[in-house]
Amino acid sequence: MLAERRLILITGASGAIGGALALAYAEPGVELMLNGRNRQALEALAGRCLALGAEVTLSPHDLTDTDALLRWLETLRDARLPDLVILAAGINISHQPDGNGEGVDAASRLMTLNLRVPMRIAQELAPRMQARGSGQIVFISSLAAWHGLPATPSYSASKAGIKAYGEALRGWLAPHGVGVTVVMPGYVASAMAHGMPGPKPWLWSAERAARVIRRGVQRNRARISFPFPLAFGTWCLAVLPAGLAQRLVGWFGYGVKP
Ligand SMILES: NC(=O)c1ccc[n+]([C@@H]2O[C@H](COP(=O)([O-])OP(=O)(O)OC[C@H]3O[C@@H](n4cnc5c(N)ncnc54)[C@H](OP(=O)(O)O)[C@@H]3O)[C@@H](O)[C@H]2O)c1
Repeated sequence: MLAERRLILITGASGAIGGALALAYAEPGVELMLNGRNRQALEALAGRCLALGAEVTLSPHDLTDTDALLRWLETLRDARLPDLVILAAGINISHQPDGNGEGVDAASRLMTLNLRVPMRIAQELAPRMQARGSGQIVFISSLAAWHGLPATPSYSASKAGIKAYGEALRGWLAPHGVGVTVVMPGYVASAMAHGMPGPKPWLWSAERAARVIRRGVQRNRARISFPFPLAFGTWCLAVLPAGLAQRLVGWFGYGVKP
């Protein structure tokens, strides 16, 4: 009898971290289901994954299109439930040049993509994984989840939200044989990282990040955070008195210029 292929779903696959993860998992015996809006980028990635021996299915649609999302989830739920789901799609925004903070609509779109969409996907797939007694869900949060950054309030909120959600889900699903991991990256070279305001110390390549994530996911780690100096520093911000943490954030160059 032929062994069944391992089905791995990755959102944000047309981006830096999601794309590097697809390549890190691409091997014989694996079927990758890749999501993103940029079909050209997905097709180029699919070619590289096929060359490494994986099978590839593309799902090029906008995750904030609720009808398309629900139709997709229905097929995933009823046809073939993935073994591993990596939710990497995300956007970042910062203050508008007019000094009036973030745009309301832009912040709402961000919260949908970064928080509501991964929650919706997990809400649909986790009960099926629970019933099956196997599976793993990986949420990509950020070190910005430890303490809100003045230049990116909505982004920080979305990443703190998905961190808490993933931790809660892990506690619920662990007794049922389903793993949940929250990834908290520092700066990883990507279009999004380059568009972020503020210094970017210990910038990692997406390939390095993907290697560390894959290793941690394999061990079903509750949290994967990197690089160590920034992970430790941002964790300290969460445990220090909030007023002091706030001042440190400004001193390190993450404040908003008046
Ligand atoms: N890079 C960093 O320094 C860093 C640090 C901490 C956390 N993270 C997190 O890591 C994840 C990946 O980020 P990245 O650095 O790889 O950024 P990226 O290269 O800009 O990739 C972002 C991905 O999100 C997808 N996406 C955006 N809007 C979408 C939508 N409406 N529907 C479907 N997909 C959509 C993009 O696909 P299309 O372009 O095809 O639409 C792309 O694949 C994000 O969740 C980010 O918050 C990144």
